[in-house]
Amino acid sequence: MTALTLSNLSAATVPADAVVIGVAKGESGPVLAAGSTPAAAVDAATGGTLAATLKTLGAKGGENEVTRIASPDGVAAPLVLAVGLGAVPDKGGAFDPETLRRAAGAAARALAGSAHAAFALPVADVAAVAAVSEGALLGAYAFTAFRGREFDGADSAPLSQVTVLDEGAADDAHTRAAQRALVLAEEVGRARDLVNTPPNALTPAVFADTVTATAPGFGVDVEVWDEEALAEGGFGGLLGVGQGSGAPPRLVRVAYRAPAATTTLALVGKGITYDSGGISLKPAGHNETMKCDMGGAATVYAAVLAAARLGLAVNVTGWLALAENMPSGTATRPGDVLTMYGGKTVEVLNTDAEGRLVLGDALVKACEENPDALVDVATLTGAMVVALGERTIGVLGTDAFRDLVHETAAEVGEESWPMPMPAELAEGLKSPVADLQNVGPRLGGGLFAGHFLREFVPADLRWAHLDIAGPAYNGGSPHGYTPKGGTGVAIRTLLRLAERAADGDLG
Ligand code: BES
Ligand code: MN
Ligand code: ZN
Repeated sequence: MTALTLSNLSAATVPADAVVIGVAKGESGPVLAAGSTPAAAVDAATGGTLAATLKTLGAKGGENEVTRIASPDGVAAPLVLAVGLGAVPDKGGAFDPETLRRAAGAAARALAGSAHAAFALPVADVAAVAAVSEGALLGAYAFTAFRGREFDGADSAPLSQVTVLDEGAADDAHTRAAQRALVLAEEVGRARDLVNTPPNALTPAVFADTVTATAPGFGVDVEVWDEEALAEGGFGGLLGVGQGSGAPPRLVRVAYRAPAATTTLALVGKGITYDSGGISLKPAGHNETMKCDMGGAATVYAAVLAAARLGLAVNVTGWLALAENMPSGTATRPGDVLTMYGGKTVEVLNTDAEGRLVLGDALVKACEENPDALVDVATLTGAMVVALGERTIGVLGTDAFRDLVHETAAEVGEESWPMPMPAELAEGLKSPVADLQNVGPRLGGGLFAGHFLREFVPADLRWAHLDIAGPAYNGGSPHGYTPKGGTGVAIRTLLRLAERAADGDLG
């Protein structure tokens, strides 16, 4: 885990292995990012030639670009790393927080193998301090649990110490922002680890046991329904999806209670520890990364722990709907009818549309506690990835609250987009034999899934559904603060939403 400190030292004197400065894309080459006194000290040590040197080295100032320079005399750290910030902000403006977050992340990734980096990026206000802190910590991540010693040598270990150079370091608001960034990054790291853990090592029972072993240490209550309790309770969705697997399903409730809270936020996460598709088996090419299908549950769990660790004045209850979707002689068949928790029956026409089945049970259970708002998070549909690409969360739900969640995501720099639920798609829910069927027409599949979930949520409740099938897992190259593999997407949005709930600001 990476340590974080704010410091008002100059970039010239800070004792570190590297100093990170920002460089923007000027009209005729790279320009030093204005607004960082510490970075200006580095330039002064070069006699004002830093931008010219960067240009000579081919730097342009574009996003994700890093350029290394041996430090000039007068800078204590041996290495200066210039990270691109993209376009120069409009006159008088500052870099937006997400630009800083990504740049800090790219720099932290580039510095893997170093121990201590000092970030001299332009931090004009507390939001910028938070963004640089978050980006640096989120970029300093590696998943090595399943590697032999020879692979995880010190040459590629993430930074162990991040110092953010900040003239307001002594300010209370800055200290709080740094503390929040640290908790957030640790919880994002926890979710990434869970997603990256191979599916033979993270079954529903192992996930539940991990929660039971960890959450109480943060003051979070845990309740687990095992397969017997699920059968007794009538959780037909979780049982139906899990019955083909030798690793039985679990429902986990994690609850953080704030003494003076007046609002309760319920979070429900899809936790398919491996999605083979079941009898409607996925073809090769579509199943290699399906360990990521518990990403919603990992996000929800991490968000509850973050809210608890920060002592937010709001109750947050997380529901983790955990099952493994496998084909076997005991698996649910296309054509089977399941009786969900609460009594609705569902004809399962495609066993690969399993997320909505485990979520249906968990949504009904969550709503028994009458929360003030409900958000479910799920790697639910390939259709949403077709619609929005691999980096954008699809947000569905009740109109006003859906838009509020979208705005909340924008506030914390997470890409999302509000999606409609066209009324005619609800026609596809009709089954000839049961109350509902689990698949409809192919077109609009991500929106149809929203209609299905809505059947399990009271009409008068604020509800949002986050489809993170694209952004939960980065199968491509790392970028900004996003590593390969599990990303921990939507935790920042949920944490901010919990803060808004604490402020009575849910609309
Ligand atoms: N877990 C998948 C969705 C998914 C796709 C997640 C790509 C991550 C990346 C989900 O369970 C699924 O298989 N959905 C089907 C639904 C269809 C059968 C109606 C899909 O999207 O193809
Ligand atoms: Mn599936
Ligand atoms: Zn799935």
